[in-house]
Amino acid sequence: MIPAGINAQTKSSSIRFDKQTQVFHIDAADMSYVLGINEQKEIQALYWGKRLNAADTFGVPHSAPGLSGFDSSINTTQQEFTGWGGGQYVEPDLKITFPDGNRDLVLQYVSHIIEGDKLTIVLKDISRDVFVQLEYQVDTTTGILKRSAQVQNKTSAPLTIEQIASGTWNLPRGTDYRLRYLTGRWAGEWSLHEQIIQPGKTTLESRRGSTGAQNNPWFAIDRNGSNDQDHGDVWFGALGWSGSWQINVEQDEVQQIRVTGGPNSFDFGYRLAPGEHLQSPDFYGGYSHDGIGGASRLLHRFEISTILPHGPDPKLRPVLYNSWEATEFKVDEAGQEALAEKAASIGVERFVMDDGWFGQRSTDHAALGDWYVNPVKFPHGLKPLIDKVHSLGMDFGLWVEPEMVNPDSDLYRKHPDWALNFTGRPRSEGRNQLMLNLARPDVREYVFQFLDKMLNENDIAFLKWDYNRNWSEPGWPAVAPEDQKKVYIAYVQNLYSILEELRAKHPRVEIESCSGGGSRIDLGIMRYTDEVWPSDNTDAFDRLLIQDGFTYAYAPAVMMAWVTDSPTWVNQRTLSLEYRFLSSMQGSLGIGANLNNWKPEDFATAKKMVAQYKQIRETVQRGSLYRLISPQNGSEQSVTETVSKDQSQAVTFAFLHSSQMLYPFPRIYLRGLRPEGIYKISAIDGKLSGDIPSVASGAFWMQHGVDIELRGDFQAAAFSLEAVDR
Ligand code: GLA
Repeated sequence: MIPAGINAQTKSSSIRFDKQTQVFHIDAADMSYVLGINEQKEIQALYWGKRLNAADTFGVPHSAPGLSGFDSSINTTQQEFTGWGGGQYVEPDLKITFPDGNRDLVLQYVSHIIEGDKLTIVLKDISRDVFVQLEYQVDTTTGILKRSAQVQNKTSAPLTIEQIASGTWNLPRGTDYRLRYLTGRWAGEWSLHEQIIQPGKTTLESRRGSTGAQNNPWFAIDRNGSNDQDHGDVWFGALGWSGSWQINVEQDEVQQIRVTGGPNSFDFGYRLAPGEHLQSPDFYGGYSHDGIGGASRLLHRFEISTILPHGPDPKLRPVLYNSWEATEFKVDEAGQEALAEKAASIGVERFVMDDGWFGQRSTDHAALGDWYVNPVKFPHGLKPLIDKVHSLGMDFGLWVEPEMVNPDSDLYRKHPDWALNFTGRPRSEGRNQLMLNLARPDVREYVFQFLDKMLNENDIAFLKWDYNRNWSEPGWPAVAPEDQKKVYIAYVQNLYSILEELRAKHPRVEIESCSGGGSRIDLGIMRYTDEVWPSDNTDAFDRLLIQDGFTYAYAPAVMMAWVTDSPTWVNQRTLSLEYRFLSSMQGSLGIGANLNNWKPEDFATAKKMVAQYKQIRETVQRGSLYRLISPQNGSEQSVTETVSKDQSQAVTFAFLHSSQMLYPFPRIYLRGLRPEGIYKISAIDGKLSGDIPSVASGAFWMQHGVDIELRGDFQAAAFSLEAVDR
């Protein structure tokens, strides 16, 4: 079944090589990607966009002429992967220093191999035995390409890689391209930005050691600057890397667009001994003819089916309860059991105990690193609480922050050398903690062992894996000075390998990626995690904007959203419990309120909303998302609609900031329904206008639209459409 909102992908996919012209054609879904070998033996980009006719051919590729003595052909030819050398000024993919001081690298085609949906092209420097293996793997359903590069040192001496990208995405000459990207900070993640691409370069990056929230490694580029959600050309990409990274978007001197992406080249240096190789992260890129909405629907589908650990059909997210905002560090057996009973009574399926349960942890000043159960708070270990949670019909989850250490901890007292540090220099703390250097084999082993032991000894279904600061003084004094900058790569590789090994040994355990909110969300960590925490900002109104930005790049299926207390700690804003539920129900529903303060009517409302959510969660988590009214730019309204895969259910959430001058709420025009289908409308919460029929065709709901009655401040409503003709 082709999901609604994704163009009919009945077309076959293929990768073929035309020997005569030396051109590779990659066709999949509604996308074609064409590249060829030119007379300089460079791999030249020829086309990326809407699928071409199978009969379309390309001539033999020719490198572009240079502009003048100032700009040789190497700067005007759009290449798939360039080494820095031969007078190149555009952003390179690879820069190397050889031990003899030579820093010139000119890569040429050597060979290629096509295996099903994968194309591998081998390049080599014109004189030295440096090989680069470019890989292109195409996803047949979405046409999303995964690209990476592997650098192999087959010379007899070590060399130093100073910059490596996974490849360059190229778009043809044009001055009407627009870039979208995401920025943020703690409690303010996922701001969407737009800018016209002008001559010069925009760098999106993190120098923080991890993905960071300041920029997220995602971009989308459209043409003609159209704001239409569902029409027009959009090229998009996302980097699968959870360390420092960079994406450069460049308009070159002849107005061509080039996008490169990989680990950040700032403070970078990777010594490659003879016989060794370095694999770049995966850089994913896709094309949609159906506007930015179509682009995000493709990405969502791809993430669920191809990126997440249990793709193509991962489990739906359970409704969870998390103790953090209720108890902070004050967790103990009796208190958690009382919360668990209350959570179970409203239909929660997973109970998660957050920070505070281990070592001598009573504030954020101590105990990170000491992963034993606090004997005062839990005198009999975690078993009684876990048993209680199970007896209430829920599974049990636990918070951990494995990569960190407080100076006030047994671990730090025993192993001060395990923290990232430069010898003899101060160690800057963030949230009173230091970073463990996970690149060290002994630290990797310690972290893996404590987690493995904890999962062996306790019936834990879920880990909330937190990471509450960024790097400082990123020294690794235990290795030779020329290898110390490897920390940027080795750390992330070890993080991934711990997650991979844990998942293999404990296949039923699910993991959430949290980093003080949404500071480590990318397609790299998502290969090992089942869900992510977008922000510590749980204000249900702020969340509308946060969630809107988030879904440009990532699927609502992984977007955890808790209902918390009102007024919120964030803005002291008061919102009804219904509003808070409807805001959270657009993603994976969780509850993080202090249930001890709830009144009977709150429990009744919550029970009803949780039950409603269970009726629509498959649609919300697996369906196609349409942004009907954007909350961006200070909009008074926000409306989202999600259509189930088989188009038999659509769920719409509508929010009003405040009504003015007696204006009614804008009419809502639905999308993605079967025009000839017959659908019954029902309110999930709030009031529909009395003037609309209860049953009508998909065409009616999409063309006539739906009126709802929303008036006042911070009002919300939701309704569903159910197909009644099948
Ligand atoms: C981070 C997380 C929160 C909570 C605290 C616990 O800030 O984002 O959800 O887990 O840590 O210390």
